[in-house]
Amino acid sequence: MTQKTFRALVIESKNKQPCAQFKQLKIADLPNEDILVKVSYSSLNYKDALTITGKASICKKVPLIAGIDLSGTIIESKSSDYKEGDKILVNGFGLSEKFNGGYSQYQRINPNWIVKVPVSFNEEEVMAIGTAGYTAMLCIQEIQKHGIKPNKGPILVTGATGGVGSFAIKLLHKLDFNVSAVTGKVEESSKYLKSIGADEILDRKAFHRPSKILESENWSGVIDCTGGSLLATAISQTQREGIVTACGLAAGMILNTTVAPFILRGVTLRGIDSVEAPISKRKKAWEELSRLLTSNELKSIYNTYPMSRVRELATSLLEGNRNGRVVIDVNR
Ligand SMILES: NC(=O)c1ccc[n+]([C@@H]2O[C@H](COP(=O)([O-])OP(=O)(O)OC[C@H]3O[C@@H](n4cnc5c(N)ncnc54)[C@H](OP(=O)(O)O)[C@@H]3O)[C@@H](O)[C@H]2O)c1
Repeated sequence: MTQKTFRALVIESKNKQPCAQFKQLKIADLPNEDILVKVSYSSLNYKDALTITGKASICKKVPLIAGIDLSGTIIESKSSDYKEGDKILVNGFGLSEKFNGGYSQYQRINPNWIVKVPVSFNEEEVMAIGTAGYTAMLCIQEIQKHGIKPNKGPILVTGATGGVGSFAIKLLHKLDFNVSAVTGKVEESSKYLKSIGADEILDRKAFHRPSKILESENWSGVIDCTGGSLLATAISQTQREGIVTACGLAAGMILNTTVAPFILRGVTLRGIDSVEAPISKRKKAWEELSRLLTSNELKSIYNTYPMSRVRELATSLLEGNRNGRVVIDVNR
């Protein structure tokens, strides 16, 4: 076993730039963690795409195996909590940042990072949900914790056709919320967005502008995947005592806003960090995901591709040409 070679996508440094290369590795090359997993699937997230294309690297050290998500079967365990044959998943927790990630046919992981694959899903389906669906669920749980109910008014979702956006729409719809979806591709994607539960489709251009200090109070809550001017406009349109969950930066890191929505309307801005979220929060999010979603419903949200195509898929994801989620079959 230790001599067997397998394929992994490794981020290295070339002329001080991150560079993704397929490599043949041995089990002995993996770090010394307590659980050895035969990986089945990973997924392609915005962060993965930035790293693979070299546009920005999240790797705090190199060489490092890429991929922030993984699902698979335990084949060796030194932990009393897990045994050989258990189907497990990991989202974030430093995969592809500080620790080797999921674009690999085998991986060694820390038992403290693990969530068991819920019985209602298989290993492919949990990667269809992946970091994106789990992050969308964390946003929704913050909105619910804030006391927002469907009768308080619509929830705005930005970056609607992306992974987080698509899951946010689907899950909010299942929870009876009215959902307004902001997209940069109204014509091409309206049918898709309606099919997953959006009640209203709004053009990104209406949000990508300097916002007024306070605008009309449209949204009881916001799930923002974009940052930048879209987030600023969404904040200025949030209702009194509403909540804006900020999880992304697809439009940019800079947030140009004023204190007015916070001090004159009591709006809450809640940051969402899926990477370091404690395991108890993750397990709650995954329990709710398995309660709300069926395997059948996931089908319209994802496509599965071989790992050999992950570099071209990363480029296409950053160009914003995709709807929904990309699952990566690491064994093809
Ligand atoms: N905080 C966390 O823990 C966490 C977890 C997961 C993801 N994220 C972040 O959340 C964001 C979304 O992630 P994802 O996996 O859903 O990515 P994704 O699948 O690439 O979706 C991003 C979406 O944002 C929109 N978009 C792209 N470029 C844009 C631009 N220049 N201006 C405005 N909108 C733009 C596009 O949707 P439309 O064409 O429909 O507008 C695109 O589909 C990323 O920034 C990611 O890093 C954060």
